[in-house]
Amino acid sequence: YKLPEIKNEPVLSYAPGSIERETLKKTLSELNKGGLDIPMIIDGKEIRTNNTKEIRPPHNHQNLLGYYHQGDKSHVQMAIDAALKAKPSWEAMNWESRAAIFLKAADLIAGPYRSQFNAVTMIGQSKNAYQSEIDAVCELIDFYRYNVKNMHEIYNMQPNSSPGIWNRMVWRPLEGFIFALTPFNFTSIAGNLGAAPALMGNTVVWKPSKTAVYSAHLIMKVLKEAGLPDGVINLIYVGGKEATDVIFDHREFAGLHFTGSTEVFNSMWKSIASNITKYKSYPRIVGETGGKDYIFAEKTANAKQVATAITRGAFEYQGQKCSAASRAYIPINLWDDVKKFVADDLSKIKTGVVEDFSNFVNAVIDEESFDKLAKVIEDAKSSPDTEIVCGGNYDKSTGYFIYPTVIQAKRPDYITMKEELFGPIITVYVYDPEEIDAVLDLLDKSTDYALTGAIFSSDRAQIEKLTAKLTHTAGNFYINDKPTGAVVDQQPFGGSRGSGTNDKAGSVLNLLRWVSPQCIKETF
Ligand code: SER
Repeated sequence: YKLPEIKNEPVLSYAPGSIERETLKKTLSELNKGGLDIPMIIDGKEIRTNNTKEIRPPHNHQNLLGYYHQGDKSHVQMAIDAALKAKPSWEAMNWESRAAIFLKAADLIAGPYRSQFNAVTMIGQSKNAYQSEIDAVCELIDFYRYNVKNMHEIYNMQPNSSPGIWNRMVWRPLEGFIFALTPFNFTSIAGNLGAAPALMGNTVVWKPSKTAVYSAHLIMKVLKEAGLPDGVINLIYVGGKEATDVIFDHREFAGLHFTGSTEVFNSMWKSIASNITKYKSYPRIVGETGGKDYIFAEKTANAKQVATAITRGAFEYQGQKCSAASRAYIPINLWDDVKKFVADDLSKIKTGVVEDFSNFVNAVIDEESFDKLAKVIEDAKSSPDTEIVCGGNYDKSTGYFIYPTVIQAKRPDYITMKEELFGPIITVYVYDPEEIDAVLDLLDKSTDYALTGAIFSSDRAQIEKLTAKLTHTAGNFYINDKPTGAVVDQQPFGGSRGSGTNDKAGSVLNLLRWVSPQCIKETF
């Protein structure tokens, strides 16, 4: 039978004077009053500890919004116990009921909770209204809805039978519990990493980033209201090592669903490997990690289009997207125009607090990130190998503001052409079109990542050549568009090499990692 019709959630524009903007402004001022007291949620119960941590908006760090309750190893154990206790009845529940819970959650986010999802992400993660809308509202809704569609497709994948024999595939969940470890930069990803395995009948221990507990808590609230039974997803705030020491030592550990740094993913993979004989089954390891995403313009590219891709691809959400453009290769014949257009864009872009909707760039996530990025800028200012073409300013007096910065590197192997920065900084290398093949080789070999990349050209033969030559450099490859902003069900997202296991979030491929199918043959 058919599911309800599923489409991408329309993005609201929050135009001046619109009802949605006024509602959002009211929600923001209400939430900015603070008074937060955010507990962990284990087995459906709110858990408070004596160890509280402050919550402050990155763009306004004088504003103490309140506290969250930090747990320890005993809470990790409690969360595992709760997940294992909830598993039999959740797994046995018919799939339509599991699906209905997530479809209802999506409708709650699209309707009554829309402005809250936006506001907590804006305040907690310093994201402007539009970026928040496409993430915490639309993408999260799309994940919940398309996961249901994809689950339905998987359950309908059945083997052939013959007269007197009926073969069938039972799409069992994994045996044990799943560990979801989620990042600060997308509320949608944080919400999906637990939800995708849960929809397939698994139960989950969820550890969000310590800089995104506010939105994680709201996700749990909505899931509960939508009918998610206690213990199916258990939300804990604990240190990384405390969590992994307990989880990776557990016989019932069945899978890791991760988005974060390559370094953390590598170290977890090693811990899992060293414990491999302890587990009932080989754990599923699914991770989306770092990127050093590129823009490559060929000599026939449209300079304005390239400049827009730089401005949007590198600076939206302060470049804190794993997909953000952070290195660009521009042919010398286009560079003056591209530089002029980017400078023009940046002269119109404002940086500041999220409450002022005209700010395009807001704060980076925390002081550690700010200090690292400020040092990158200072190093570039003093290096003989670079020139700051735009920006180069930063200020942490009231919030962690790094102003959009374009560095021009005279050497293609300058450090910021190779290392992930996770901030509003892009480095450009200007090349001679005669040397295009050498530059493409460099692009391919100068990092271990392969997440996103964008090429620009108006020459079909060149588009074909570049696409073939760069095929392993990006899991999401864009032709004449910026390398960010993948939409669920339209551009399934994920990278290879050091960028992850490329299981394409929000697609059938991802959901297939959370099942352990059993084939039954019955003879009559
Ligand atoms: N899916 C996001 C994008 O494409 C990154 O996680 O920008």
